[in-house]
Amino acid sequence: MTTPERFRRRFPIFEKKVFLNSCSKGALSDDVEKAYGTYLDSWRRDGSPWEDWVEMLERTRAVFASFIGCSADEIAVSYCASTAAAGLVSALSFEGTRDRIAIGDFEFPTLVHNLLAQEKRGASVVRVRAEANRLAAESYANELDERVRLVPVAHVCFRNGYRQDIEAVVRCAKAVGALTLIDDYQSTGTRPLDVKALQCDFLVTGTLKYLLGSSGLGFLYVRRELIDELEPLVTGWFGQEKPFDFDIERATYHASARRFETGTPPVPNLYAGFAGIELLGQLDPVTVQAHLEALASRLIDGAKRRGFTMLTPEEPERRGPLVVLACHDSQRIVEALARENIVVSARGEGIRVSFHYYNLHDDIDALFQVLDSHADSMAPLLRAGCVANISCSSAFGLALRSTSSLRKAVFIRINRRHHALPAHKMTSRFAQRITVTVH
Ligand SMILES: Cc1ncc(COP(=O)(O)O)c(C=O)c1O
Repeated sequence: MTTPERFRRRFPIFEKKVFLNSCSKGALSDDVEKAYGTYLDSWRRDGSPWEDWVEMLERTRAVFASFIGCSADEIAVSYCASTAAAGLVSALSFEGTRDRIAIGDFEFPTLVHNLLAQEKRGASVVRVRAEANRLAAESYANELDERVRLVPVAHVCFRNGYRQDIEAVVRCAKAVGALTLIDDYQSTGTRPLDVKALQCDFLVTGTLKYLLGSSGLGFLYVRRELIDELEPLVTGWFGQEKPFDFDIERATYHASARRFETGTPPVPNLYAGFAGIELLGQLDPVTVQAHLEALASRLIDGAKRRGFTMLTPEEPERRGPLVVLACHDSQRIVEALARENIVVSARGEGIRVSFHYYNLHDDIDALFQVLDSHADSMAPLLRAGCVANISCSSAFGLALRSTSSLRKAVFIRINRRHHALPAHKMTSRFAQRITVTVH
């Protein structure tokens, strides 16, 4: 298998930039650029080669299905995760006593918006709450019972990189007869994924991030046993058994998961998506996972040495391919990094640093070189109610920058004992990391 160094050469951006933002958009490879060219050639040369383009739809469906360990008939090709989820939830019934959807705090907004819209169709929403940047599988277990129809679960949280124990959540949901919908967007392409072993009912994802393809292409996996009974209200001619019969007398859903498709497929994105998945298919997903975990560990170790605060858990099994470092002016830090040709993104009170197989340890060293000159910003913005585990020196700096009322009220826990300390007493004699609670 190719090394990260050799893989990286296929991504021209690395000639000019340190790209650490795959959680937002995967880098463009030569292969994907060439695939766009192939599409344009076909259009220029043949005008309207629909047979070739529909064949590309089927090839993309098949390559993705084999990537996640299911059959092509269990995959609907969509435009994005949102439309995939919209079609799916429109096919679920929220009548009767099983009317609940259990929504965790780490979901991506678009899924939540689609789920909240189901309240108009009789669904009632229960919330599964996170605590201190963690969302334990037990919190799902506490909310699940025979009234729950659907449990959506973000595998990796886009905001803080927390990796959910999806196996445990799927088990809890199964135990009460609820259906599970995994949002795998922040994970697909970074480690092995086998939907049959996972035993989830549905999964949505797309190609624009770690699958190294284009925007405008999403996938929905539907477990075979469920397909027949699901009749989406969001539909269109490509979701029909015989689209090219152009029948306007009746609608007949396709027998496979294609029934969740709607209109003309996004042809250019299929070319790009297919090329991205094929490129990843040349790698061993276990090796990819190990490489990304090593990169994340290097970032976390460096951050800890500097007293920076992570919003992402340290244990490899609870984190994904992105690590979020807290800072109180994330946009300014992102811009400072961009001036040095380092690409990351800001979300809320942190900067997101994310990895793919093309990243090297040198990328992290380059990142720290810039962050070191902004160390004073690398502390969380604490509001009343916040809890953070940070170094004493960060807490000290933080308190000095805070409003006078916050300065008076910093309450720290050292070695499990609580102290109310005025900021000026927080000195380096407390060398260890401390937990700060703001009241
Ligand atoms: C976890 C997760 N789900 C979904 C999406 C995007 O969904 P869509 O393809 O509908 O834009 C994102 C994008 O950042 C995401 O991080």
